[in-house]
Amino acid sequence: MVKPSVPISFEEFKFSVEEIEEFLRGAPPDEKLLKPYTPKLYRLKTGEPVVIRAVDKSEAPAMLQSLKQLIDHNYDKDFYHLVAVRLYSEILAWIQNRIKDHYALVATNADGELMGIVNHRFASPELCISLHTIALKRAERLGIMLYAAKIEHAFDFVGAKEWWATFESPFGYRMGFRLQHGMKPWPEFQHELGGGRVFYITKERWDRVVKPDLIQRGLMGERPVPEDLLKKSMPLKPTQKIEIEI
Ligand SMILES: CC(C)(COP(=O)(O)OP(=O)(O)OC[C@H]1O[C@@H](n2cnc3c(N)ncnc32)[C@H](O)[C@@H]1OP(=O)(O)O)[C@@H](O)C(=O)NCCC(=O)NCCS
Repeated sequence: MVKPSVPISFEEFKFSVEEIEEFLRGAPPDEKLLKPYTPKLYRLKTGEPVVIRAVDKSEAPAMLQSLKQLIDHNYDKDFYHLVAVRLYSEILAWIQNRIKDHYALVATNADGELMGIVNHRFASPELCISLHTIALKRAERLGIMLYAAKIEHAFDFVGAKEWWATFESPFGYRMGFRLQHGMKPWPEFQHELGGGRVFYITKERWDRVVKPDLIQRGLMGERPVPEDLLKKSMPLKPTQKIEIEI
């Protein structure tokens, strides 16, 4: 406790928790950065349809419930445990207003069951920060396809100029390598996820190289999603069967 150098009219002030909350949550969400993503369709090797769409906060319980199963040392393999726990905390921070301009996309099967999640947040209108990618069914290229979908949201829907990612696992790094990210000098530039290296894509490179390559490899999906399929994908249901052994 430090005594002020001049007399102060009152001994103490009282603040309501509602006044404090305004400071804790930062600015209200910027709707220009959270432009709605147009859903798209992807097909598994069997031809089964997968819907890629944005989620809203009311659907967070299904994501949290699914991720919770992976928060266990039994899932340390391929870094699923670490990514699940970090993503869980980000989804929680989103619904409790502790993260700036956060956006999440999911993949669901035809019954609306969760198959994968990606999320990102906007540091500014120009800079989008990639957070996490998780595929709950593997060997279907669901992860890389979802990762491409969130970059598409940042560049093609919102108009960001740069995408900053870091990779926490060899499978994640492989995705970044395949999408030809550049690397910022390290440690001068550090990603907010633990100070890792920043791997980046510019909007110019996305348009000229990365997106055409994704289209050619069938990883950009198709639009529109048939109305009845889209309806069935909502509300989001938790993953019944996690299929991550490959
Ligand atoms: C990273 C991640 C999202 C990538 O998902 P994905 O693109 O769907 O890829 P998968 O993890 O299913 O890996 C499939 C790859 O495994 C390999 N693979 C699959 N089955 C195989 C087998 N039987 N034998 C050998 N290799 C096999 C193939 O190389 C395949 O890649 P390809 O489809 O391009 O040929 C996913 O692995 C994941 O969620 N990992 C845990 C969390 C994580 O690390 N997130 C990224 C953090 S940066």
